[in-house]
Amino acid sequence: MWVLGIETSCDETSVALLRVQGGRPQIVQNLIASQIDAHQLFGGVVPEIASRKHLEALNPMLAELRRQSGFEWRDLDLIGVTHGPGLVGALLVGVAAGKALGYAHRVPCVPVNHIEGHIVSNFLAQPITFPMLCLVVSGGHSDLVLMREHGDYVRLGRTRDDAVGEAFDKVARALGLPLPGGPSLERAAAQGNPLAFDFTASNLEPSLDVSYSGLKTAASQALRKSTREDKEQLVNDIAASFQRVAVRQLRRNVERALQEHPVATLGVCGGVAANSFLRGQLEAAAKAAGVAFVVPDKVLCTDNAAMIAAAGYYRWMMRPESERVWQLDALDFKTHSLLPIA
Ligand code: KG4
Ligand code: ZN
Repeated sequence: MWVLGIETSCDETSVALLRVQGGRPQIVQNLIASQIDAHQLFGGVVPEIASRKHLEALNPMLAELRRQSGFEWRDLDLIGVTHGPGLVGALLVGVAAGKALGYAHRVPCVPVNHIEGHIVSNFLAQPITFPMLCLVVSGGHSDLVLMREHGDYVRLGRTRDDAVGEAFDKVARALGLPLPGGPSLERAAAQGNPLAFDFTASNLEPSLDVSYSGLKTAASQALRKSTREDKEQLVNDIAASFQRVAVRQLRRNVERALQEHPVATLGVCGGVAANSFLRGQLEAAAKAAGVAFVVPDKVLCTDNAAMIAAAGYYRWMMRPESERVWQLDALDFKTHSLLPIA
């Protein structure tokens, strides 16, 4: 089976081709075009610019995908496209393209929930044994999800305010670091002293929820409040101290969740999962708990179409075989992509 993926939910345009063999999706090609330069001037993603950039990039990228991987439209079995959550105008570009291609080539087009895409990115890394506890850490989410099988999720914890990626971005901005904030902050933190500042994160026990607004505010104000002269080192020290506390909060919750819920695997996904310090801390937590640890390649942690194609494939295979045929509007886009989290 050949599956095309399309992702346009935020500031990355991405198209990917997967080949499924023996029930395992594998990446043939995964093209990602970042728009970050277009948003740099504004200090954050501007929705209207994002939509226009997707519109400009998508067709040439599809042509490039075909050129690089040599597939013909008639070879295609399925299309997966991100349907939400995300910027509405940006999503519309991908959904319109996916539906039009599906209609023109008589290929079913499956709407995919972006967060389910992130979770499924773990399956592109290695075969996974259920149940899996998955930490979803992106610009919009900080969820702890228990995945019992494909399509079966229970949310154990979430953020009460900011998502962890959002906190990384806002602290990076307050420290004057360039976009994208998360990777810039990680680079600064590598040069800093993680014990320089004793930031704290709210303790929400016994729940498995997290809160980042207090930590974000404390770290954002630390630069202005400090009388230190060595500004560059000060920024690095704040970044390192913020990262230490932000990640400690996640590790603690993961450890508690592992105690409360017997699982076979610990997974992590979303943009913040590209953070090396977090990866190391979670690997250590998994090892201590005696469960397998899985983490996607760094390029598959941030937004990409390969994970969307894979999630589309698993969604499609959940349907009864008799319903796995092309039909105009076979799938209800309004309800199909809702992540069925209990
Ligand atoms: O998953 P993603 O690409 O988009 C969303 O679905 O939100 O995640 C983007 C988020 C941003 O907040 C970005 O700053 C953060 O992931 N991020 C990182 C790193 N790389 C990306 N945060 C910390 N360390 C990183 N290396
Ligand atoms: Zn994402």
